[in-house]
Amino acid sequence: MAKLKWGMIGGGEGSQIGPAHRMGALADGRFEMAAGALDHRPDIGREYAQRLGVAADRAYGDWQEMLAGEKGRDDRIDLVTVATPNSTHFEITKAFLEAGFNVLCEKPMTMTVEEGEEIVKISEKTGKICAVNYCYSAYPMVRQARAMVRNGEIGKPRVVVTNFSHGHHGDATDADNPRVRWRYDPAMAGVSGQFADCGIHAMHMASFICDDEVEKLSADFASAIPSRELEDDAMVNFRMQGGTIGRLWTSSVAIGRQHGFEIQVFGETGGLRWASEQPNQLIYTPVGGRTQIIEKGEGGLHEDAQRLSRVAIAHPEGFPLAVANIYCDLADAIRGETRDGLPNAAAGVRSMAAVHTAVASAKEDGAWMDARPSIFR
Ligand code: NAI
Repeated sequence: MAKLKWGMIGGGEGSQIGPAHRMGALADGRFEMAAGALDHRPDIGREYAQRLGVAADRAYGDWQEMLAGEKGRDDRIDLVTVATPNSTHFEITKAFLEAGFNVLCEKPMTMTVEEGEEIVKISEKTGKICAVNYCYSAYPMVRQARAMVRNGEIGKPRVVVTNFSHGHHGDATDADNPRVRWRYDPAMAGVSGQFADCGIHAMHMASFICDDEVEKLSADFASAIPSRELEDDAMVNFRMQGGTIGRLWTSSVAIGRQHGFEIQVFGETGGLRWASEQPNQLIYTPVGGRTQIIEKGEGGLHEDAQRLSRVAIAHPEGFPLAVANIYCDLADAIRGETRDGLPNAAAGVRSMAAVHTAVASAKEDGAWMDARPSIFR
């Protein structure tokens, strides 16, 4: 089967997420890298793309040039990844969807709920895929957890507790470092700091595993380092449409925690726990029974967990391969298969609604508010 053609915007040399996209897109031979506008500095982006094997005429200086160049080609790219800073996602994603390209957009998909709703509508109208890179949802053992919940193996989820808390911005003497400071500056980061950056991964994960959507929430935001205008610590209580009780803590001042993303789901007949730092294992306790470790690669896993696991049992299977699973599902979806777990634009706009609702709730001392975007009310 011919490889699909893939291009990326952003993700240039030295960027944080660029390498995971390159490894992920190319890992399974489903895509080839055909085009790129990789850097905010045109010459550096062109040079780097060519070093990665992109032909000179498809190593573009900026995304507008890439759009114009790709639109006119018979062998145009099948998928473009948007891995630029947050404030550019909407404009680039919209332009490529409208020109008939499939898009994988980094999170957060947009800055406002209205923009997110527009992306959902454009994706529906054009019939083009808009996926959002909630890549943690593509770890095999997260898929196992979701399948177990769907299969009734822990009964109805009563409570979900999740946190995504690290300590990498906990040094007050480093708070003015430009690489850190922008994240807490509304002019650069938007309305929310830590919740929009990491909290939305945790909230998406709660929805994904519980197979349910957040309906309302109450938030407490704090700047533990007082010079920060946006929150570096947040506690969000929420309720899902099916009644599940949700608790979410996200922090960037949790010194001693490294990646710090974990989730527990407590159902009527059992509990599950998954942590990104031990991604190959899912901890399962049936009511009245012993706690068990379910390992990626062992026999009897649910189909999705088996399908997305590609190295033998006990070999570490890490972050870039979780991103690769998103690309596998995208390749299948582009070829017309239905891929149920692929995070889509609807998930992207639900996150934006949660961010803006949490900001409003925190300002009102934690008042409970409807967290659904208006198109899903
Ligand atoms: P970064 O600052 O490390 O890299 C950004 C890259 O985009 C740089 O190469 C820069 O030159 C390039 N760039 C900036 N503006 C551009 C433009 N207009 N056109 C073309 N290239 C441009 O940023 P990082 O951390 O890689 O984040 C990028 C995005 O990925 C953010 O939206 C972030 O939220 C998201 N992200 C997602 C993660 C996930 O787990 N899904 C993890 C880390 C980041």
